[in-house]
Amino acid sequence: MRSPRIWMVSLPVLLLVLAASMATAQDHAYVGTKNCKKCHLKEWKSWAETKMALSFDNLKPGERAEAKTAAGLDPNKDYTTDPECVRCHVTGYGKEGGFVDIETTPDLVGTGCEMCHGAGGTYTQPEHMSLKNKEYKRSEVVAAGMVEKVSEVQCAVCHNTDSPFVGDDYVFDFEARKDEGTHEKYPLKYNHD
Ligand code: HEC
Ligand code: HEC
Ligand code: HEC
Ligand code: HEC
Repeated sequence: MRSPRIWMVSLPVLLLVLAASMATAQDHAYVGTKNCKKCHLKEWKSWAETKMALSFDNLKPGERAEAKTAAGLDPNKDYTTDPECVRCHVTGYGKEGGFVDIETTPDLVGTGCEMCHGAGGTYTQPEHMSLKNKEYKRSEVVAAGMVEKVSEVQCAVCHNTDSPFVGDDYVFDFEARKDEGTHEKYPLKYNHD
């Protein structure tokens, strides 16, 4: 039988750990790309045409058949429900508010805004980044989960050698690829210092 003394010590610790992890999960819940589109139409339009926005389609049967065959995959197989593929072709897979499946979360297919800028559940709240608070302080939205400066850290989640299409010698050149692959950049209008 388990000793009750272990529970006296470990239960409060366990509850603390649970509470802490639940708070983080909620703070960083994914909200989907449509939410960002409301206020960032120009970036959205440009993003929507990128290969990354459309990358979920690559998992459908018949898509990129030649590349799949060359990589030793079955070109006629439906990979859209295979977790081993989906995790890098959607937004927030397995995370709070993130992609579940195409019926439940159609707004989270492809590399959405939040894969690079951070899950928006908190920083898009009215007191942070909003039309009422256009001059938000950057340090505040960063504290609320926005990525301060997009870097190779965000890309490396997917651009790594786990992809069946790249060899062990795969090198991701962030400086070269951040402009050609993401979206058009427009100067900010307001001061956030
Ligand atoms: C209710 C409106 C609104 C929504 C929704 C919104 N934003 Fe913003 N966002 C703004 C405003 C206003 C600015 C400041 C624009 C400026 O200075 O020109 C901004 C700025 C930004 C910036 C620049 C950050 C900086 O200060 O360097 C990024 C990145 C950004 N938003 C990403 C997102 C993403 C991703 C989402 C969705 C998860 C989102 N936004 C949702 C209003 C919004
Ligand atoms: C570790 C993340 C990751 C995993 C896992 C992954 N992919 Fe990808 N996939 C990528 C990235 C990143 C690219 C683009 C590589 C580049 O352009 O540098 C890509 C590219 C592709 C392409 C385009 C290839 C081409 O040459 O046109 C297809 C098709 C594809 N993936 C399907 C799949 C399938 C099917 C699976 C599962 C068997 C899978 N991916 C698993 C990240 C991943
Ligand atoms: C693959 C990564 C990536 C994705 C996906 C992405 N962005 Fe960006 N975004 C960037 C980079 C890189 C910058 C340049 C600023 C920086 O370095 O942080 C940027 C800058 C911005 C800015 C600042 C103003 C500007 O135009 O430069 C806004 C606003 C923004 N993104 C909104 C969005 C929205 C909305 C989406 C989704 C529709 C999105 N981004 C998707 C990488 C990305
Ligand atoms: C959620 C996973 C994911 C993240 C995060 C991600 N990518 Fe990608 N990226 C992909 C996939 C998948 C493809 C392949 C799309 C295709 O070939 O259709 C791709 C393709 C690209 C391409 C090729 C686009 C083209 O038109 O040929 C560039 C460039 C790129 N990514 C840059 C970046 C940069 C820069 C970052 C980080 C700021 C980043 N990616 C983050 C998954 C991701």
